[in-house]
Amino acid sequence: MFPTTRLRRLRRTDALRSLVRETTVAADDLILPLFIEEGIDTPVPIAEMPGVSRIPEARLAREIEAIARDGVRAVMLFGISHNKDATGRDTLDPHGLLARMTRTAKDAAPDLVVMTDNCFCEYTDHGHCGVIGDAGGEAQVLNDATLENLARQVVVAADAGADVIAPSAMMDGQIGTIRRALDGAGHEGVPVMAYSTKFASAFYGPFRSASGCDLRGDRKTYQMDPMNAREALRESLEDEAEGADMLMVKPGLAYLDVLAGIRARTLLPLAAYQVSGEYAMIKFAAAAGALDEGRVVRETLGAFKRAGADLILSYFARDVVREGF
Ligand code: PBG
Repeated sequence: MFPTTRLRRLRRTDALRSLVRETTVAADDLILPLFIEEGIDTPVPIAEMPGVSRIPEARLAREIEAIARDGVRAVMLFGISHNKDATGRDTLDPHGLLARMTRTAKDAAPDLVVMTDNCFCEYTDHGHCGVIGDAGGEAQVLNDATLENLARQVVVAADAGADVIAPSAMMDGQIGTIRRALDGAGHEGVPVMAYSTKFASAFYGPFRSASGCDLRGDRKTYQMDPMNAREALRESLEDEAEGADMLMVKPGLAYLDVLAGIRARTLLPLAAYQVSGEYAMIKFAAAAGALDEGRVVRETLGAFKRAGADLILSYFARDVVREGF
């Protein structure tokens, strides 16, 4: 107790502070999400996410080489499709955008970890994450019909060279279904990073325009209610039981309690996703002169690690890797 105890003793110099620092963030921990659009020639800046552009498919190889040269170790690919339909069939085509961009990225930087976001919302004309059909007289996103398509989609992604399959559709049973499909296709060695606890969040706002998704309605019948912490644990533990290799909480900053709760109950690697709205809040506040962007970014990434994340998906990943910590 004070005056014997003086916590300020270990804060006196920079060197002392770094000796007792409990949490660090490194390039190895970060995954950079990328938006790749087919059928365009020049990058399209995303107004809601200053500093982020849609990469033309034709420039993807060059862009991936540059990203890898900057020191980024892992990317998550999102396709922006010009071939949308009711079911997202383009993702099941070995010559569709998902397969092509995965192959291109992998060829351009073989050492880069290439992850695919496995979902349908960027490839359906209604913007939902699965097949819409009639369930008890009501139009709904059909769970089990979507599972069948997901099983096919992940094999297309793995055949194209994806290092990690990351399903984000929030269908019940998707992890078990995907694991069986991958194993059945000879991809026993391809890990699954489950978007295991994913909330129906307003923080995805900028992503909708970034990914060209015109969603009708909302995702509340499949993504989680942001108010539920116990159910959040169940979602992740269920995915672990179904065979997930890694778990995730999404969004990040508003859900650190959930992250810490899952950390306490699983031995699997755990990811946090700093989503588009979190990125936008920092960017716009910094542009208005209200915040120091670099320091706030490092503080938020540190918060994810402190709360128990091993990996972090962040649109700031490239800047942070390039500029150091
Ligand atoms: C696809 C998907 C979304 C995000 C990642 N994968 C959108 C959504 O679920 O509505 C959001 C990412 C972000 O906001 O940065 N299902």
